[in-house]
Amino acid sequence: MTNRLIPFCAGLLLFVSCNQASKTEVSLKDYGAEPTVINIDAYTMSNSNFRTALWTGVNLQSTLMSIPVGGDVGLEKHPATDQFLRIEEGTAQVVMGDTETSLTFVKTAGKDFAIFVPAGKWHNIINTGNKPLKLYSIYSPAEHPHGTIHKTQEEAEEAEEAANQHYFNKNENFMTQELIQLPYATNALAPAISKQTIEFHHGKHLQGYVNNLKNLIQGTEFANADLETMIRESDGAIFNNAGQILNHNLYFLQFSPTGGGKPSGRLAQAIDAAFGSFENFQKEFETAGVGLFGSGWVWLATDKDGKLSITKEPNAGNPLTKGLKPLLTFDVWEHAYYLDFQNRRVDHLKSLWAIMDWKTVENRY
Ligand SMILES: [Fe+2]
Repeated sequence: MTNRLIPFCAGLLLFVSCNQASKTEVSLKDYGAEPTVINIDAYTMSNSNFRTALWTGVNLQSTLMSIPVGGDVGLEKHPATDQFLRIEEGTAQVVMGDTETSLTFVKTAGKDFAIFVPAGKWHNIINTGNKPLKLYSIYSPAEHPHGTIHKTQEEAEEAEEAANQHYFNKNENFMTQELIQLPYATNALAPAISKQTIEFHHGKHLQGYVNNLKNLIQGTEFANADLETMIRESDGAIFNNAGQILNHNLYFLQFSPTGGGKPSGRLAQAIDAAFGSFENFQKEFETAGVGLFGSGWVWLATDKDGKLSITKEPNAGNPLTKGLKPLLTFDVWEHAYYLDFQNRRVDHLKSLWAIMDWKTVENRY
């Protein structure tokens, strides 16, 4: 008798305890990257926002969603983020596919169903029932900013549009597709960068990318686009040449023969906050540059909240494609240093601090 009752009572007690938790302890907020234990069923059922961020860590995020009758999550694709969803209440049709118009994977799902969305797949979840569809989602890595609350789908779409807004005004001097004029003489940055390297790097390599891009965009949708648009929306040769032009423009225009020293103001504070000290930032930046295999760029970039990070981008890569604003960059293609430093990439990178024009970088921040 006892043996038969215990499992039943334990289950009953757990059930009562869950219900009590849902009545008294649900506090909808983003718990951040803190140790957290919650009854996610109760939280999901309590959420009536289109989206509420529940937990945002370094590599993973959980959000709660409530989709009104007849509504949907919205057709979208996360290029580099895997997603898990679990339905706590309601009925849905799940669609996925390789393009927006070819959603060949179609399944019906309901309470207690799990949905796995691979990175790069177009997907949508449509509420086909007669009550709000309650689900929670886990993204890896995180998809939305910490503390995100979208009361409605319209609000979610507005936020996404804002996130896709450009960082740079097309009138900025580094946004030009033409060969930029250097604000210093070709011999003015020696010994960090010799006259000969400047002449090849600016006059031959950058000029080559400018010529290539002109030819490539003729008659395409990018014919009148600015560099940032091309980097965000193109791929292949247009992306490579537009990326190399913007990257080199940002690179050449950040130097001055009277440069050196340290940043000041907001940028200096943000560097201390992110890296502990300016000296530590320099060390981490050089390490990233040395550790980048092959050709590419090492960047200091900021997110929309002003938080700084160092990113390594291969080939023509730029942090814009990660939603970050580029501030400062070292070119680690061999053409940037081989005439002066041969294989001693680290010595070249260390030498660039002496010509860094921090006022220019501060203005980009
Ligand atoms: Fe270069």
